[in-house]
Amino acid sequence: KDKIWNPSLLAADFTKLGKELNDLSNEGIDWIHIDILDGHFAPNISIGSDPIKQLREVSDLFFDIHLMVVHPETFIPKFIEAGADSISFHVETEDDIEKCFALIEEAGIKKGLVISPDTPVDALKPYLNNIDLITVMSVYPGFGGQSFIENSLDRIKEIKKLTKDYDILVAVDGGVNSKTIEKVKDAGADVFVAGTAIFNGDKSKNIKLLNNIIHD
Ligand code: DX5
Ligand code: ZN
Repeated sequence: KDKIWNPSLLAADFTKLGKELNDLSNEGIDWIHIDILDGHFAPNISIGSDPIKQLREVSDLFFDIHLMVVHPETFIPKFIEAGADSISFHVETEDDIEKCFALIEEAGIKKGLVISPDTPVDALKPYLNNIDLITVMSVYPGFGGQSFIENSLDRIKEIKKLTKDYDILVAVDGGVNSKTIEKVKDAGADVFVAGTAIFNGDKSKNIKLLNNIIHD
């Protein structure tokens, strides 16, 4: 199965987002990971659904929405309307998970769960029949540029084992860069979220460098 690159918008140049997305498409990238933070789930705020709707007008990338919000149920409809291709929310949420799934399902887009570093992977078990994507956080939610938490590798392996009979992609989010990506690949990840490692400096060079490492 081919690996999927999923650059994280949080690290992009916000003075020229449309161009950033088009540059990625020109580099052969298919997905963009969009972090939505409400300042309560994690101590940072990013952007709402209106800017995403504008970006939808200028980009054909697969919009992978990562909701880091206390009430995903409130925001799912807004991001569907904005043109999301996939919406993931945290398994730690206190909202009704099945209700959130139903909202996403109605739109016919992909649905996913995200798991934070301190949550036992078993928390995902009840939902394996119901999801297309699991995003494993390898940093604490909130910010780009943090360092990779090493025990995430074992968690990825465990989740790959749990999902082996299901059609679920496993994504890794946080601290993925030229130093850590080989281990992440060896652990079995299908989708690589990478913010700073792609947007810091020359995107084209960064993508080539990372590609060379994982295709070795
Ligand atoms: C953190 C976000 C990540 C972040 C990753 O809460 O979920 O998507 O942007 O950034 P890097 O790749 O720089 O660790
Ligand atoms: Zn994310």
